[in-house]
Amino acid sequence: MINTKYPEGFLWGAATSAYQVEGAALTNGKKASQQDIINQENYETRGFATADIASDHYHHFREDIALMKEMGFTTYRFSIAWSRVFPEGVGPVNEEGIQFYRDLIDELLKNGIEPIVTLYHYDLPWALVRKYNGWLNREVVADFEYYASYIIEEFKNKVKYWTTINEQSIIVQFWTQKCFIPKTLQSNNQLRYQINHHMNLAHAIACKLVHEKVPNGLVGAAIGYAPVYPLTSKPEDVMAAQNAHDLHNGYYLDIYFKGIYTKSAMIYLESKGLAPKIEPGDMELMKEGYSDFLALNYYASECAKACPEEEELRFAGVNWTGVKGAMDGHERQPGFFQMCTNPNLDTTDWDWAIDPTGLEYIFRDIYMRYNKPLIITENGLGAFDQLTEDGRIHDDYRINYLREHIKAMKKAMDFGVEVIAYCPWSAMDLLSTSNGVKKRYGFIYVDRTDDDAKECKRLKKDSFYWYQKVIESNGMDLD
Ligand code: BG6
Repeated sequence: MINTKYPEGFLWGAATSAYQVEGAALTNGKKASQQDIINQENYETRGFATADIASDHYHHFREDIALMKEMGFTTYRFSIAWSRVFPEGVGPVNEEGIQFYRDLIDELLKNGIEPIVTLYHYDLPWALVRKYNGWLNREVVADFEYYASYIIEEFKNKVKYWTTINEQSIIVQFWTQKCFIPKTLQSNNQLRYQINHHMNLAHAIACKLVHEKVPNGLVGAAIGYAPVYPLTSKPEDVMAAQNAHDLHNGYYLDIYFKGIYTKSAMIYLESKGLAPKIEPGDMELMKEGYSDFLALNYYASECAKACPEEEELRFAGVNWTGVKGAMDGHERQPGFFQMCTNPNLDTTDWDWAIDPTGLEYIFRDIYMRYNKPLIITENGLGAFDQLTEDGRIHDDYRINYLREHIKAMKKAMDFGVEVIAYCPWSAMDLLSTSNGVKKRYGFIYVDRTDDDAKECKRLKKDSFYWYQKVIESNGMDLD
Protein backbone atom coordinates (compact mmCIF):
# COMPACT_ATOMS: atom_id res chain seq x y z
CA MET A 1 0.00 0.00 0.00
CA ILE A 2 1.21 3.45 -0.85
CA ASN A 3 1.92 5.39 2.31
CA THR A 4 3.24 8.86 1.79
CA LYS A 5 3.83 11.61 4.30
CA TYR A 6 1.56 14.63 4.48
CA PRO A 7 2.72 17.31 2.07
CA GLU A 8 4.93 20.11 3.30
CA GLY A 9 2.80 22.89 4.77
CA PHE A 10 -0.30 20.75 5.33
CA LEU A 11 -2.47 22.72 7.75
CA TRP A 12 -3.85 21.23 10.98
CA GLY A 13 -6.41 23.11 13.04
CA ALA A 14 -10.09 23.24 13.85
CA ALA A 15 -13.19 25.32 13.14
CA THR A 16 -15.92 27.40 14.77
CA SER A 17 -18.48 29.96 13.67
CA ALA A 18 -19.11 33.42 15.07
CA TYR A 19 -22.57 33.16 16.62
CA GLN A 20 -21.84 29.69 17.99
CA VAL A 21 -18.79 30.78 20.01
CA GLU A 22 -18.50 34.52 20.37
CA GLY A 23 -21.37 35.57 22.61
CA ALA A 24 -21.29 39.33 23.29
CA ALA A 25 -24.35 39.34 21.07
CA LEU A 26 -25.19 42.98 21.72
CA THR A 27 -21.83 44.23 22.99
CA ASN A 28 -19.74 47.16 21.74
CA GLY A 29 -22.10 48.17 18.99
CA LYS A 30 -23.01 44.73 17.66
CA LYS A 31 -26.66 44.37 16.84
CA ALA A 32 -28.71 41.19 16.59
CA SER A 33 -28.34 38.70 13.80
CA GLN A 34 -31.13 36.35 12.78
CA GLN A 35 -29.41 33.69 14.88
CA ASP A 36 -29.93 35.75 18.03
CA ILE A 37 -33.64 35.68 17.30
CA ILE A 38 -33.84 32.03 16.22
CA ASN A 39 -31.87 30.86 19.23
CA GLN A 40 -33.96 32.97 21.59
CA GLU A 41 -36.97 31.08 20.27
CA ASN A 42 -35.18 27.73 20.70
CA TYR A 43 -34.44 28.72 24.28
CA GLU A 44 -38.09 29.47 24.93
CA THR A 45 -39.49 26.39 23.22
CA ARG A 46 -36.77 23.78 23.76
CA GLY A 47 -34.63 25.04 26.62
CA PHE A 48 -31.45 25.38 24.53
CA ALA A 49 -28.94 28.09 25.40
CA THR A 50 -29.25 31.37 23.53
CA ALA A 51 -26.44 32.90 21.46
CA ASP A 52 -26.08 35.75 24.01
CA ILE A 53 -22.99 34.29 25.65
CA ALA A 54 -22.36 31.06 23.70
CA SER A 55 -18.75 30.10 24.60
CA ASP A 56 -17.88 33.72 25.43
CA HIS A 57 -15.05 33.56 22.92
CA TYR A 58 -15.35 37.33 22.46
CA HIS A 59 -13.88 37.75 25.94
CA HIS A 60 -11.68 34.63 25.94
CA PHE A 61 -10.20 34.73 22.45
CA ARG A 62 -6.58 35.23 23.53
CA GLU A 63 -6.82 32.34 25.98
CA ASP A 64 -8.48 30.24 23.25
CA ILE A 65 -5.74 31.02 20.77
CA ALA A 66 -3.11 30.16 23.37
CA LEU A 67 -4.79 26.77 23.76
CA MET A 68 -4.88 26.32 19.97
CA LYS A 69 -1.20 27.12 19.88
CA GLU A 70 -0.58 24.60 22.65
CA MET A 71 -2.35 21.94 20.56
CA GLY A 72 -0.05 22.90 17.70
CA PHE A 73 -2.63 24.41 15.34
CA THR A 74 -1.26 25.84 12.14
CA THR A 75 -4.69 27.03 11.01
CA TYR A 76 -8.04 28.10 12.45
CA ARG A 77 -11.27 28.38 10.53
CA PHE A 78 -13.78 30.87 11.94
CA SER A 79 -16.45 33.23 10.64
CA ILE A 80 -17.07 36.93 10.85
CA ALA A 81 -20.34 38.17 12.30
CA TRP A 82 -21.72 40.58 9.72
CA SER A 83 -23.82 42.43 12.32
CA ARG A 84 -20.78 43.02 14.52
CA VAL A 85 -19.12 44.90 11.69
CA PHE A 86 -22.23 46.46 10.12
CA PRO A 87 -24.91 46.43 12.82
CA GLU A 88 -27.55 47.51 10.31
CA GLY A 89 -26.27 45.23 7.58
CA VAL A 90 -25.05 48.20 5.51
CA GLY A 91 -24.07 51.78 6.30
CA PRO A 92 -21.48 52.89 8.81
CA VAL A 93 -18.95 50.39 10.06
CA ASN A 94 -18.87 49.59 13.78
CA GLU A 95 -15.25 50.40 14.66
CA GLU A 96 -15.26 48.30 17.83
CA GLY A 97 -16.73 45.41 15.88
CA ILE A 98 -14.09 45.33 13.15
CA GLN A 99 -11.40 45.88 15.78
CA PHE A 100 -12.36 42.55 17.37
CA TYR A 101 -11.54 40.75 14.11
CA ARG A 102 -8.32 42.76 13.63
CA ASP A 103 -7.23 41.67 17.10
CA LEU A 104 -8.29 38.07 16.50
CA ILE A 105 -6.46 37.79 13.20
CA ASP A 106 -3.34 39.52 14.53
CA GLU A 107 -3.29 37.20 17.54
CA LEU A 108 -3.55 34.16 15.24
CA LEU A 109 -0.77 35.38 12.98
CA LYS A 110 1.43 36.21 15.97
CA ASN A 111 1.04 32.56 17.02
CA GLY A 112 1.82 31.18 13.59
CA ILE A 113 -1.80 30.17 12.92
CA GLU A 114 -3.11 30.73 9.39
CA PRO A 115 -6.64 32.16 9.43
CA ILE A 116 -9.30 30.59 7.20
CA VAL A 117 -12.10 33.14 7.18
CA THR A 118 -15.73 32.34 6.45
CA LEU A 119 -17.70 35.37 5.37
CA TYR A 120 -21.13 34.06 6.21
CA HIS A 121 -22.19 31.33 8.65
CA TYR A 122 -26.00 31.61 9.07
CA ASP A 123 -25.98 34.95 10.92
CA LEU A 124 -27.57 37.54 8.67
CA PRO A 125 -28.05 40.92 10.39
CA TRP A 126 -31.54 41.03 11.85
CA ALA A 127 -31.90 44.57 10.43
CA LEU A 128 -31.93 43.07 6.91
CA VAL A 129 -34.58 40.53 7.89
CA ARG A 130 -36.73 43.38 9.21
CA LYS A 131 -36.07 45.49 6.16
CA TYR A 132 -36.84 43.01 3.38
CA ASN A 133 -37.02 39.43 4.71
CA GLY A 134 -33.29 38.78 4.39
CA TRP A 135 -32.17 36.07 1.98
CA LEU A 136 -35.69 35.74 0.59
CA ASN A 137 -35.19 39.05 -1.16
CA ARG A 138 -32.69 39.55 -3.97
CA GLU A 139 -31.75 42.93 -2.49
CA VAL A 140 -29.60 41.02 0.00
CA VAL A 141 -27.06 40.21 -2.70
CA ALA A 142 -26.02 43.87 -3.07
CA ASP A 143 -25.81 44.25 0.71
CA PHE A 144 -23.68 41.11 0.96
CA GLU A 145 -21.36 42.60 -1.65
CA TYR A 146 -21.05 45.77 0.42
CA TYR A 147 -20.14 43.75 3.51
CA ALA A 148 -17.86 41.23 1.78
CA SER A 149 -16.03 43.91 -0.14
CA TYR A 150 -15.22 45.77 3.06
CA ILE A 151 -14.00 42.67 4.90
CA ILE A 152 -11.88 41.40 2.02
CA GLU A 153 -10.31 44.83 1.53
CA GLU A 154 -9.59 45.11 5.26
CA PHE A 155 -7.86 41.73 5.55
CA LYS A 156 -6.47 41.22 2.05
CA ASN A 157 -2.89 41.30 3.23
CA LYS A 158 -3.42 39.02 6.20
CA VAL A 159 -5.83 36.35 5.05
CA LYS A 160 -5.07 34.04 2.16
CA TYR A 161 -7.88 31.47 2.50
CA TRP A 162 -11.49 32.60 2.23
CA THR A 163 -14.67 30.62 2.37
CA THR A 164 -17.82 32.35 1.22
CA ILE A 165 -21.09 30.91 2.48
CA ASN A 166 -21.41 28.03 4.89
CA GLU A 167 -23.46 25.01 3.85
CA GLN A 168 -25.97 26.19 1.31
CA SER A 169 -27.30 22.66 0.86
CA ILE A 170 -28.02 22.42 4.58
CA ILE A 171 -29.71 25.82 4.52
CA VAL A 172 -32.12 24.45 1.87
CA GLN A 173 -32.95 21.47 4.11
CA PHE A 174 -33.23 23.23 7.47
CA TRP A 175 -34.18 26.70 6.34
CA THR A 176 -36.12 27.81 9.42
CA GLN A 177 -33.14 27.04 11.67
CA LYS A 178 -30.55 28.61 9.42
CA CYS A 179 -32.62 31.60 8.26
CA PHE A 180 -35.49 33.49 9.81
CA ILE A 181 -38.50 32.60 7.67
CA PRO A 182 -41.83 34.24 8.53
CA LYS A 183 -44.46 31.60 9.41
CA THR A 184 -46.71 32.70 6.54
CA LEU A 185 -44.01 31.80 3.99
CA GLN A 186 -42.89 28.50 5.47
CA SER A 187 -45.19 26.39 3.27
CA ASN A 188 -43.70 27.81 0.07
CA ASN A 189 -40.85 25.39 -0.63
CA GLN A 190 -39.79 27.13 -3.85
CA LEU A 191 -38.37 29.85 -1.61
CA ARG A 192 -35.76 27.44 -0.27
CA TYR A 193 -34.26 27.19 -3.74
CA GLN A 194 -34.70 30.92 -4.32
CA ILE A 195 -32.66 31.66 -1.19
CA ASN A 196 -30.04 29.28 -2.51
CA HIS A 197 -29.97 31.12 -5.83
CA HIS A 198 -29.39 34.43 -4.03
CA MET A 199 -26.58 32.77 -2.10
CA ASN A 200 -25.05 31.49 -5.32
CA LEU A 201 -24.92 35.07 -6.57
CA ALA A 202 -23.41 36.26 -3.29
CA HIS A 203 -20.88 33.43 -3.41
CA ALA A 204 -19.83 34.30 -6.97
CA ILE A 205 -19.42 37.97 -6.04
CA ALA A 206 -17.24 37.07 -3.05
CA CYS A 207 -15.07 34.82 -5.23
CA LYS A 208 -14.56 37.64 -7.72
CA LEU A 209 -13.70 40.06 -4.92
CA VAL A 210 -11.06 37.74 -3.50
CA HIS A 211 -9.58 37.24 -6.96
CA GLU A 212 -9.49 41.01 -7.55
CA LYS A 213 -8.25 42.14 -4.18
CA VAL A 214 -6.21 39.45 -2.42
CA PRO A 215 -2.68 38.79 -3.63
CA ASN A 216 -2.41 34.96 -4.00
CA GLY A 217 -5.81 34.65 -2.32
CA LEU A 218 -7.78 31.42 -2.62
CA VAL A 219 -11.52 31.17 -2.26
CA GLY A 220 -14.27 28.57 -2.24
CA ALA A 221 -17.59 27.70 -0.64
CA ALA A 222 -17.88 25.52 2.46
CA ILE A 223 -20.43 22.89 1.65
CA GLY A 224 -22.18 20.38 3.91
CA TYR A 225 -21.58 17.26 1.88
CA ALA A 226 -22.65 13.63 2.26
CA PRO A 227 -22.24 10.81 -0.22
CA VAL A 228 -25.55 9.16 -1.03
CA TYR A 229 -25.62 5.36 -1.09
CA PRO A 230 -28.49 3.32 -2.50
CA LEU A 231 -30.34 1.36 0.18
CA THR A 232 -30.17 -1.78 -1.97
CA SER A 233 -28.66 -2.75 -5.29
CA LYS A 234 -32.12 -2.71 -6.89
CA PRO A 235 -31.74 -0.52 -9.96
CA GLU A 236 -34.55 1.82 -8.84
CA ASP A 237 -32.71 2.47 -5.54
CA VAL A 238 -29.43 3.06 -7.36
CA MET A 239 -31.22 5.55 -9.60
CA ALA A 240 -32.78 7.23 -6.54
CA ALA A 241 -29.29 7.62 -5.00
CA GLN A 242 -28.10 9.24 -8.24
CA ASN A 243 -31.09 11.61 -8.14
CA ALA A 244 -30.37 12.50 -4.52
CA HIS A 245 -26.72 13.06 -5.36
CA ASP A 246 -27.65 15.40 -8.21
CA LEU A 247 -30.02 17.47 -6.04
CA HIS A 248 -27.99 17.45 -2.79
CA ASN A 249 -24.44 17.61 -4.08
CA GLY A 250 -24.06 18.14 -7.82
CA TYR A 251 -26.51 21.05 -7.71
CA TYR A 252 -23.98 23.00 -5.61
CA LEU A 253 -20.65 21.73 -6.93
CA ASP A 254 -21.63 22.41 -10.54
CA ILE A 255 -22.33 26.03 -9.61
CA TYR A 256 -19.05 26.44 -7.77
CA PHE A 257 -16.86 24.81 -10.40
CA LYS A 258 -18.74 25.08 -13.68
CA GLY A 259 -21.15 27.98 -13.13
CA ILE A 260 -24.12 25.84 -14.19
CA TYR A 261 -27.10 24.24 -12.52
CA THR A 262 -27.06 20.43 -12.73
CA LYS A 263 -29.61 19.77 -15.48
CA SER A 264 -31.32 16.69 -13.99
CA ALA A 265 -31.85 18.45 -10.65
CA MET A 266 -33.13 21.58 -12.36
CA ILE A 267 -35.58 19.65 -14.56
CA TYR A 268 -36.90 17.88 -11.46
CA LEU A 269 -37.29 21.18 -9.56
CA GLU A 270 -39.05 22.76 -12.53
CA SER A 271 -41.47 19.85 -12.77
CA LYS A 272 -42.46 20.43 -9.13
CA GLY A 273 -42.64 24.22 -9.31
CA LEU A 274 -39.62 24.54 -7.01
CA ALA A 275 -37.02 25.96 -9.38
CA PRO A 276 -35.49 29.36 -8.59
CA LYS A 277 -36.21 32.41 -10.69
CA ILE A 278 -33.05 33.26 -12.61
CA GLU A 279 -32.47 36.71 -14.08
CA PRO A 280 -30.45 37.63 -17.17
CA GLY A 281 -26.76 37.81 -16.33
CA ASP A 282 -26.99 35.53 -13.27
CA MET A 283 -25.42 32.50 -14.91
CA GLU A 284 -22.62 34.61 -16.45
CA LEU A 285 -21.81 35.95 -12.98
CA MET A 286 -21.65 32.42 -11.60
CA LYS A 287 -19.15 31.44 -14.25
CA GLU A 288 -16.98 34.48 -13.50
CA GLY A 289 -17.05 33.76 -9.75
CA TYR A 290 -15.19 30.49 -9.97
CA SER A 291 -13.82 28.64 -6.91
CA ASP A 292 -10.19 27.74 -6.30
CA PHE A 293 -10.94 24.93 -3.85
CA LEU A 294 -13.85 23.25 -2.16
CA ALA A 295 -14.21 23.34 1.59
CA LEU A 296 -16.08 20.33 2.90
CA ASN A 297 -18.03 19.88 6.09
CA TYR A 298 -18.28 16.12 6.45
CA TYR A 299 -20.06 14.41 9.32
CA ALA A 300 -22.06 11.52 7.90
CA SER A 301 -23.14 9.69 4.80
CA GLU A 302 -26.70 9.38 3.56
CA CYS A 303 -28.82 6.64 2.10
CA ALA A 304 -31.66 6.80 -0.44
CA LYS A 305 -34.30 4.61 -2.02
CA ALA A 306 -36.92 5.00 -4.69
CA CYS A 307 -39.86 7.28 -3.89
CA PRO A 308 -43.28 6.81 -5.50
CA GLU A 309 -44.65 9.80 -7.41
CA GLU A 310 -47.76 10.02 -5.22
CA GLU A 311 -45.77 10.59 -1.99
CA GLU A 312 -45.87 14.02 -0.42
CA LEU A 313 -42.86 16.35 -0.60
CA ARG A 314 -41.05 16.85 2.70
CA PHE A 315 -37.60 17.88 3.86
CA ALA A 316 -35.14 16.40 6.37
CA GLY A 317 -36.11 15.78 9.96
CA VAL A 318 -34.17 16.72 13.08
CA ASN A 319 -33.35 14.80 16.23
CA TRP A 320 -33.98 17.44 18.91
CA THR A 321 -33.15 15.34 21.96
CA GLY A 322 -30.06 13.21 21.44
CA VAL A 323 -32.09 10.06 22.05
CA LYS A 324 -31.10 7.62 19.29
CA GLY A 325 -33.93 7.02 16.86
CA ALA A 326 -35.77 10.24 17.72
CA MET A 327 -35.16 11.90 14.34
CA ASP A 328 -38.51 13.13 13.11
CA GLY A 329 -38.55 11.86 9.52
CA HIS A 330 -36.62 11.82 6.24
CA GLU A 331 -36.69 13.93 3.13
CA ARG A 332 -39.00 12.79 0.31
CA GLN A 333 -38.81 14.16 -3.21
CA PRO A 334 -41.72 12.43 -4.97
CA GLY A 335 -40.78 10.40 -8.02
CA PHE A 336 -37.09 11.26 -7.51
CA PHE A 337 -35.82 9.79 -4.19
CA GLN A 338 -36.46 9.47 -0.49
CA MET A 339 -33.78 9.40 2.17
CA CYS A 340 -33.68 6.56 4.69
CA THR A 341 -31.55 5.07 7.43
CA ASN A 342 -28.55 3.02 6.35
CA PRO A 343 -28.85 -0.30 8.20
CA ASN A 344 -25.10 -0.92 7.83
CA LEU A 345 -23.86 2.00 9.88
CA ASP A 346 -23.83 2.95 13.53
CA THR A 347 -25.01 6.45 14.38
CA THR A 348 -24.32 9.22 16.86
CA ASP A 349 -26.87 9.92 19.58
CA TRP A 350 -28.41 12.38 17.13
CA ASP A 351 -28.86 9.74 14.41
CA TRP A 352 -26.01 10.87 12.16
CA ALA A 353 -24.47 7.85 10.40
CA ILE A 354 -20.80 7.36 11.34
CA ASP A 355 -18.92 6.57 8.16
CA PRO A 356 -15.21 7.34 7.75
CA THR A 357 -15.09 5.52 4.42
CA GLY A 358 -17.68 8.02 3.18
CA LEU A 359 -15.03 10.71 3.57
CA GLU A 360 -12.52 8.79 1.48
CA TYR A 361 -15.26 8.17 -1.07
CA ILE A 362 -16.29 11.81 -1.49
CA PHE A 363 -12.68 13.01 -1.58
CA ARG A 364 -11.91 10.62 -4.39
CA ASP A 365 -15.15 11.39 -6.21
CA ILE A 366 -14.98 15.18 -5.99
CA TYR A 367 -11.31 15.48 -6.75
CA MET A 368 -11.40 13.17 -9.76
CA ARG A 369 -14.48 15.02 -11.09
CA TYR A 370 -13.36 18.64 -10.59
CA ASN A 371 -9.63 18.41 -10.03
CA LYS A 372 -9.53 21.14 -7.36
CA PRO A 373 -7.87 21.01 -3.94
CA LEU A 374 -10.03 20.27 -0.92
CA ILE A 375 -10.14 21.52 2.65
CA ILE A 376 -11.93 19.90 5.53
CA THR A 377 -13.58 22.82 7.27
CA GLU A 378 -15.71 20.62 9.52
CA ASN A 379 -15.72 16.99 10.67
CA GLY A 380 -16.55 15.83 14.16
CA LEU A 381 -18.66 14.01 16.66
CA GLY A 382 -21.39 15.66 18.72
CA ALA A 383 -21.66 13.94 22.10
CA PHE A 384 -22.86 14.37 25.70
CA ASP A 385 -19.41 14.80 27.28
CA GLN A 386 -19.05 14.33 31.03
CA LEU A 387 -16.82 16.43 33.22
CA THR A 388 -15.56 13.83 35.71
CA GLU A 389 -14.51 14.34 39.30
CA ASP A 390 -10.85 14.42 38.37
CA GLY A 391 -11.64 17.55 36.31
CA ARG A 392 -11.10 15.64 33.06
CA ILE A 393 -13.22 14.85 30.04
CA HIS A 394 -12.59 11.32 28.76
CA ASP A 395 -13.87 11.59 25.19
CA ASP A 396 -12.34 8.46 23.69
CA TYR A 397 -15.40 8.13 21.37
CA ARG A 398 -14.41 11.45 19.78
CA ILE A 399 -10.79 10.37 19.44
CA ASN A 400 -11.93 7.16 17.72
CA TYR A 401 -14.18 9.08 15.36
CA LEU A 402 -11.49 11.58 14.39
CA ARG A 403 -8.77 8.95 14.10
CA GLU A 404 -10.78 6.93 11.58
CA HIS A 405 -11.65 10.04 9.57
CA ILE A 406 -8.05 11.20 9.46
CA LYS A 407 -7.06 7.74 8.23
CA ALA A 408 -9.74 7.93 5.54
CA MET A 409 -8.54 11.37 4.44
CA LYS A 410 -4.99 10.08 4.24
CA LYS A 411 -6.02 7.09 2.15
CA ALA A 412 -7.66 9.42 -0.36
CA MET A 413 -4.51 11.57 -0.36
CA ASP A 414 -2.42 8.49 -1.02
CA PHE A 415 -4.50 8.00 -4.15
CA GLY A 416 -3.70 11.48 -5.37
CA VAL A 417 -6.32 13.73 -3.78
CA GLU A 418 -4.92 17.16 -2.96
CA VAL A 419 -5.92 18.32 0.53
CA ILE A 420 -4.82 21.67 1.98
CA ALA A 421 -6.08 21.49 5.55
CA TYR A 422 -7.93 19.50 8.15
CA CYS A 423 -10.14 21.54 10.48
CA PRO A 424 -12.45 19.37 12.54
CA TRP A 425 -15.48 20.75 14.31
CA SER A 426 -14.82 22.24 16.71
CA ALA A 427 -11.90 23.94 18.37
CA MET A 428 -13.93 24.44 21.56
CA ASP A 429 -17.41 23.47 22.70
CA LEU A 430 -20.03 25.76 21.28
CA LEU A 431 -23.72 26.32 20.71
CA SER A 432 -24.99 23.61 18.37
CA THR A 433 -27.17 24.80 15.52
CA SER A 434 -30.02 22.57 16.62
CA ASN A 435 -29.28 21.08 20.02
CA GLY A 436 -28.08 23.71 22.50
CA VAL A 437 -24.73 23.40 24.27
CA LYS A 438 -25.25 19.92 25.68
CA LYS A 439 -24.20 18.49 22.32
CA ARG A 440 -20.45 19.06 22.42
CA TYR A 441 -17.83 18.86 19.69
CA GLY A 442 -14.74 20.63 21.00
CA PHE A 443 -11.19 19.68 21.95
CA ILE A 444 -11.55 22.36 24.60
CA TYR A 445 -14.36 21.87 27.09
CA VAL A 446 -16.34 25.01 27.91
CA ASP A 447 -17.78 24.68 31.38
CA ARG A 448 -21.35 25.83 31.00
CA THR A 449 -24.80 24.30 30.56
CA ASP A 450 -27.84 25.32 28.57
CA ASP A 451 -29.35 26.95 31.67
CA ASP A 452 -26.26 28.41 33.23
CA ALA A 453 -23.38 30.06 31.39
CA LYS A 454 -21.28 30.05 34.60
CA GLU A 455 -17.82 31.45 33.76
CA CYS A 456 -17.26 29.43 30.60
CA LYS A 457 -14.05 28.07 32.09
CA ARG A 458 -11.83 26.24 29.58
CA LEU A 459 -10.65 22.67 30.26
CA LYS A 460 -8.60 20.32 28.10
CA LYS A 461 -10.36 17.14 27.03
CA ASP A 462 -8.49 13.88 26.41
CA SER A 463 -8.95 14.62 22.69
CA PHE A 464 -6.96 17.85 23.21
CA TYR A 465 -3.85 15.88 24.19
CA TRP A 466 -4.46 13.28 21.48
CA TYR A 467 -4.79 15.91 18.73
CA GLN A 468 -1.66 17.63 20.02
CA LYS A 469 0.23 14.40 19.33
CA VAL A 470 -1.38 14.01 15.93
CA ILE A 471 -0.26 17.47 14.91
CA GLU A 472 3.19 17.15 16.43
CA SER A 473 3.77 13.99 14.39
CA ASN A 474 2.24 15.61 11.28
CA GLY A 475 -0.54 13.05 11.20
CA MET A 476 1.65 9.99 11.65
CA ASP A 477 0.89 9.17 15.30
CA LEU A 478 -2.83 8.51 15.60
CA ASP A 479 -2.75 6.24 18.67
C1 BG6 B 1 -22.62 22.16 10.34
C2 BG6 B 1 -22.56 23.62 10.63
O1 BG6 B 1 -23.82 21.92 9.72
O2 BG6 B 1 -22.68 21.27 11.39
C3 BG6 B 1 -22.18 23.98 12.04
O3 BG6 B 1 -21.77 24.31 9.70
C4 BG6 B 1 -22.83 23.02 13.00
O4 BG6 B 1 -22.53 25.32 12.25
C5 BG6 B 1 -22.33 21.63 12.70
O5 BG6 B 1 -22.63 23.35 14.33
C6 BG6 B 1 -22.91 20.56 13.60
O6 BG6 B 1 -24.29 20.63 13.61
P1 BG6 B 1 -25.09 20.78 14.95
O7 BG6 B 1 -26.52 20.90 14.56
O8 BG6 B 1 -24.82 19.55 15.72
O9 BG6 B 1 -24.59 21.99 15.61
